[in-house]
Amino acid sequence: MSKYSVLVVGMGKRGLHHAAAFNANPKFQVVGICDVDPARLETAAAKLGQPQRGPDAAALAKAVKPDVFCFTTLPNLRTRMIEIGIASGAKLIAFEKPVALTSSELLGVRALIQNAGVKAVVSHQHRYGAHYRKVKEIVASGALGRVHTVYGSATGWMTHMLSHLIDYTCWFNQYAPGAWVMAQAAGRSKFADNHPSPDYIGGFVQFANGVRGIYECGAGAPDQPEVAKWWGKNRIGAQGTEGFAEVLTNGGWRAVTKAGGYQTGEGAMNYDLDMPPYIQEMAEWLDDDRKPHSCNFDHACLGAEIMLGLQRSAAEGGQVALPLTAGGDELALLKAKLADRPVLVSCDQNKKEFGLS
Ligand SMILES: NC(=O)c1ccc[n+]([C@@H]2O[C@H](COP(=O)([O-])OP(=O)(O)OC[C@H]3O[C@@H](n4cnc5c(N)ncnc54)[C@H](O)[C@@H]3O)[C@@H](O)[C@H]2O)c1
Repeated sequence: MSKYSVLVVGMGKRGLHHAAAFNANPKFQVVGICDVDPARLETAAAKLGQPQRGPDAAALAKAVKPDVFCFTTLPNLRTRMIEIGIASGAKLIAFEKPVALTSSELLGVRALIQNAGVKAVVSHQHRYGAHYRKVKEIVASGALGRVHTVYGSATGWMTHMLSHLIDYTCWFNQYAPGAWVMAQAAGRSKFADNHPSPDYIGGFVQFANGVRGIYECGAGAPDQPEVAKWWGKNRIGAQGTEGFAEVLTNGGWRAVTKAGGYQTGEGAMNYDLDMPPYIQEMAEWLDDDRKPHSCNFDHACLGAEIMLGLQRSAAEGGQVALPLTAGGDELALLKAKLADRPVLVSCDQNKKEFGLS
């Protein structure tokens, strides 16, 4: 059986996860790795069977001509990598969330990918956790009655976490598109982070199917005392006329339904368990056009528009209609708008994480 060849760019935490998971799947072989940091590159090469490597993604992609171009660089690097992936002739481009830092970039990369006709996937892989799948199963079964609300909160800051919250709630809501959004934001300390963000953002989404979305991310978002791991304090769920079901990223799932009463179960986010099915779906989509990946680019774009619309609303005030028709730089708008006042937190641990103690 011939394998799909893979080039992975960015040998940091996530690049290593991706490359190891590709090599563990019999349908893929990592044939090239790239990083601008030579020490990281050599350490990764030793773990990955000494594939071809180098610091220049464009040159390596040209030499290797991979079937899959995967990049896992920080959020500031998206457009250039997508251009390189398309120029390499790859059949599929796989990359990390968030899709883009600004709506200008989102509209640009979407046009690039659509015009090239290349398959693309974005890594919202928490969904493969047994606890996430259980909540999806309960929502889809109809046990909640008419679903009227989906919601997500995370104490981690926006550019790390909001894309995850939105994607999984959109999954619960069958990827109905957003119609409009409205939000507020506060706090400037994380604008300087490599995942640049306001310290706190909260907002509402009107989905086209009438469902309400409610999201909070960052220092003001509620603690989940049941969960010890700070990055796992994410609560993502759905409410209907006959109950609710929700997942805690590092604290299992729970539900109350009319017919089933209170139910609960275990589960915690685990890269070792979540990456294999994420990679396997790429093989299935490459083999068969009729089997699009659950984390396909179109799904991710629906979430990205909501995330960027929320930021635009927080910066400019009022409601923002979706889909976005003109690009802008929402982070610049927020930086220009937000008052230079420390964010108000929801719990002591957030003080530490946001540099306030
Ligand atoms: N899906 C998830 O669960 C999850 C979890 C953590 C991080 N992420 C996302 O993954 C992405 C990467 O995060 P990370 O924690 O792995 O970052 P990281 O800093 O550990 O790794 C990024 C790597 O990219 C390299 N790099 C930078 N510029 C490059 C260039 N021009 N060419 C080649 N290599 C270059 C860096 O040297 C570094 O090794 C981010 O977008 C982040 O939001 C996703």
